[in-house]
Amino acid sequence: MDKFFINGGKRLEGALEISTSKNATLPILAASIMSEGEIIVNKVPNFSDVEIMLKILSSIGCLITKQNNDVIINNDSINSFELPAELTKEVRASIFLMGPLLAKFKSAKLSYPGGCNIGLRPIDLHLNGLRKLGAKIIEQHGYIYCDGKNMHGAVVNLDFPSVGATENLIMAATLIEGTTQIINAAREPEIVDLANFINSMGGKIEGAGNSVITIEGVKKLKGTEYKPIGDRIVAGTYLIAVAMNGGKVQLTNINPDYLISLIDKLKNSACNIDTKFDRIKIESIGKFKALGNIDTQPYPGFPTDLQAPIMAMQTIGEGTTVISENVFESRFKQVPELIRMGATITIKEKSAIIVGEKQLYGAEVTASDLRAGASLVLAGLVAKGYTTINDIYHIDRGYENLEVALSSLGADIKRI
Ligand code: UD1
Repeated sequence: MDKFFINGGKRLEGALEISTSKNATLPILAASIMSEGEIIVNKVPNFSDVEIMLKILSSIGCLITKQNNDVIINNDSINSFELPAELTKEVRASIFLMGPLLAKFKSAKLSYPGGCNIGLRPIDLHLNGLRKLGAKIIEQHGYIYCDGKNMHGAVVNLDFPSVGATENLIMAATLIEGTTQIINAAREPEIVDLANFINSMGGKIEGAGNSVITIEGVKKLKGTEYKPIGDRIVAGTYLIAVAMNGGKVQLTNINPDYLISLIDKLKNSACNIDTKFDRIKIESIGKFKALGNIDTQPYPGFPTDLQAPIMAMQTIGEGTTVISENVFESRFKQVPELIRMGATITIKEKSAIIVGEKQLYGAEVTASDLRAGASLVLAGLVAKGYTTINDIYHIDRGYENLEVALSSLGADIKRI
């Protein structure tokens, strides 16, 4: 299995184009099965989650062609509404296909989805929302059987602004009769991107990015060509890397507005940050005071996906930081590994207390999930000596050629 081998302590300098967002691309690929015509998704990132999603689409009969980084999807020969268990277990996003399958083909069968091991990840909000839209859903022997023959628009009030449930419901409501209103919807930029994509196929979605989204069902959707947004979590990880190591880097293909909660914090950490329409310039000397308090929240709050990366940074800040994880219940798996590298961290219920140290030291550590893995890379980049990171297949789920990008900025990191 691949590992990263990092020789820490290098300043970062240069420019990077941020890859397309994984979390935007996955629901967009799922939604594309609702179209009557051909869909072209531009600049599809080379993440393993995306590859699995494409395999799932092929397994139900979609014809997938790749041209450079574009993916062309033809739905003429979809012949199955049952998702293969061995693939759905590998990627949480497989659940996104429930809404589109029900909307277009009135039927879906799948097993429970997989994904990062970051605590219980129930799907009750997805299922209850789809039931509100008239779907009949039976859960039996690890499978979910759905019948969408009597689906209709309705008002769905989410108990929590779940990103995935909001996306699933938007897709399900797109092709059913009547008007649907999602109340307490998630407001993440990836939801706006999904709505823009569906609208470019002829859908009628209003309010995405706000807490109330209205979807007027249409009879059919046409083909389209679409480029999803840049990945704010990947961009955020590079910004944190520069803040920690010192350096000067420009990121392009990223809307700075999506990262305001992080940018504000980094500006308080002795970083100079300059933003324009789709680029961010950051400059840092790599010495900073700890941030004090960080609370993860649904967008526009501080993203849970950057909690582990910002924790790596706080381990070398001057002072103490308390990070509270409010979105997922078991998302501190990076902590024992960071401690192995010299960090001082204690966990109390949903908070981690980090006392900044002057120096981290290279060690052999293991990635437990995608973002925890990214935090170990950040720690390895700043640590004294050599760090080996095992199980980096987790990191490959959401960072495209991370070692190539970081090496181009001057880091000493190899895949072995
Ligand atoms: C998406 C992102 C993930 C990110 C998360 C929160 C994708 C592919 N993944 O995940 O990177 O960390 O948003 O920003 O876009 N919940 C329930 N019942 C449900 C659904 C969710 O209780 O039916 C809970 C979850 O357990 C979690 C919280 O709601 O505690 C947030 O989950 P959700 O917003 O749904 O995250 P995902 O869509 O899984």
